[in-house]
Parts: sequence; C-alpha cells; structure tokens
Amino acid sequence: MKVAKTIELVRSLVKAARSSGKTVGFVPTMGALHTGHISLIEAAVKQCDFVVLSIFVNPTQFVPGEDFEKYPRPIDADLQVCEKAGVDVVFVPTTEQMYAAENLTWVNVEKLTDTLCGRFRPGHFRGVTTVCAKLFNIVAPDVAFFGQKDAQQTVVIKRMVADLNMPLDIVVCPTVRQNDGLAVSSRNQYLTDQQKQDATLIYKSLQECRQMVETGTTEAQKIITRMRQILNRRPSIEIEYISIVDAETLRELDRVVGRVLVAVAVKIGPARLIDNILLDTGKR
Ligand code: PAF
Repeated sequence: MKVAKTIELVRSLVKAARSSGKTVGFVPTMGALHTGHISLIEAAVKQCDFVVLSIFVNPTQFVPGEDFEKYPRPIDADLQVCEKAGVDVVFVPTTEQMYAAENLTWVNVEKLTDTLCGRFRPGHFRGVTTVCAKLFNIVAPDVAFFGQKDAQQTVVIKRMVADLNMPLDIVVCPTVRQNDGLAVSSRNQYLTDQQKQDATLIYKSLQECRQMVETGTTEAQKIITRMRQILNRRPSIEIEYISIVDAETLRELDRVVGRVLVAVAVKIGPARLIDNILLDTGKR
C-alpha cells in the first residue's frame, strides 16, 4: 500500500494502474475509520481492481461552532485499517493541497440541500460537493463508494455527478450498525457509555416507524409523533428533526407512499448523530 501526500503522486499512481487495464474504485473519507468505512473498502475491493481511499478532514463542510478542531485524526490506526482491508493507495492531502489560499470556485447543488441537515448546517453540503468534485477530479475513479447513513449526502452527490456529467458511478452501501442497532459513526466516540445507550433509541424509533408502515399506518405526522415519543424517553436526546421525505426529491411527504426516506438528526451531549431508513411501499 502506498501513501500519497500530493495530488501529483496520487494521479501518477492511478494513471499507472489504469494503463495496466485496472478499474479504479474510490472511498472518500475524513478518517477515524470504523466498520462502516471498512464495508465501503470491502465493496470497492470486490468491485474494482485498484482502490484509492482519501483521508481529509474537509474544513469547508464544518459550519461555525462544529467539531472541526476536535474531529478525531488517528492517522496511524487509519493506515493500518487500510492496509489490512486491501487499499492500494491512501491519499492524505494537506489543506493547502486541496484549497488555494482563496478558493473562488464552489459546487452547489440546489433544492436538495435546503432540507433535512441542510436546514441546520447551512453551507455544509456546499463544502461536501466542492471537496468531492475536487477529489473526483484528482483521483478520476470509475466508481466511488458512500454509506447510506449519510442519506442526504448520497442523494446530493449523485445529483452533482449527473448534473455535471462526471464520468463515474456512485455506489451506496448499507448502513453498518452495532448489535444494539446504533449506526456506527466517527462521532460515536464523543459519547459516554450512558449516552451510547440512549443513542440506541434513534434506531428503535426508526424500527417503530417501519413497523407502523408495515401494519398499515401511512400518515406521516402520526408516525413522527410516535417516533418523537420514543426519542423523548431520554432527556439527553435533543431532537433536531424527524423527517419523512421522498427518497429522490427529499420533499416532505404527508403520507408514506412510494420510495420514502425516514431521517432523524439528534444531539446527544457533544455529538450530533444522524440515521435513517428507506421504505418502499411499492405503490404511489
Ligand atoms: O462522508 C464523509 O466522510 C465526508 O462528507 C466526505 C464524503 C469524505 C467529504 O469530505
């Protein structure tokens, strides 16, 4: 496994792989790698001949007051994870490599970024799409792999790739959960044991939603009220939003019909946690 600290090096390594006929898979990350990232690497290794993973804590996707400074950066452990999982190149750029002193060009996906997390993290998705566009231009992969836990991010990135005719496929891999249902996330490490326990209510509320839909409830408000009751069982949980939206347009729905995304964002202690499920009622 090679570690590339410059754009020039990662480009030349990818070029060499490509000239020997290899397909290139790409896993963009901010490091602090966990089993969710490992599942993305595994999918990439399975589907592609050559796998590049980037580790870059992207400053432009953190809004003021968020955890940019204290975001975990365990680079040695991350490199070991990559080596073991079969990554070919880890791209670890500096901020100076990724952003000129004054970055004047930004990628902004409209509408899809106004809802859900976009309402609470203004500018976040502009940072995500800009850095992903840069990374896709640098790495030039055939396929890039993202996790379903960041549901809105996957919808926004797919739209950017389609609208800007970027020549790559986006693969979305299932959310990886602990045995107790908590979705794995780099930010779980900010939680105390009690807060981790409380956080299991997030997935419980989503499961309750699934159960209600499966037993015939379609009224979104009724479901949201029930989910809110579950999350309110623990005073440590501050609900940011519970939304039931169309899985493609991300528009709020009154009824659960068709392909539907049910998304939750909460704050527990120092951590902001998100989770979601996709439902498909099969009819519109
Ligand atoms: O999902 C993440 O870790 C980040 O948003 C990403 C895609 C690596 C962009 O910085």
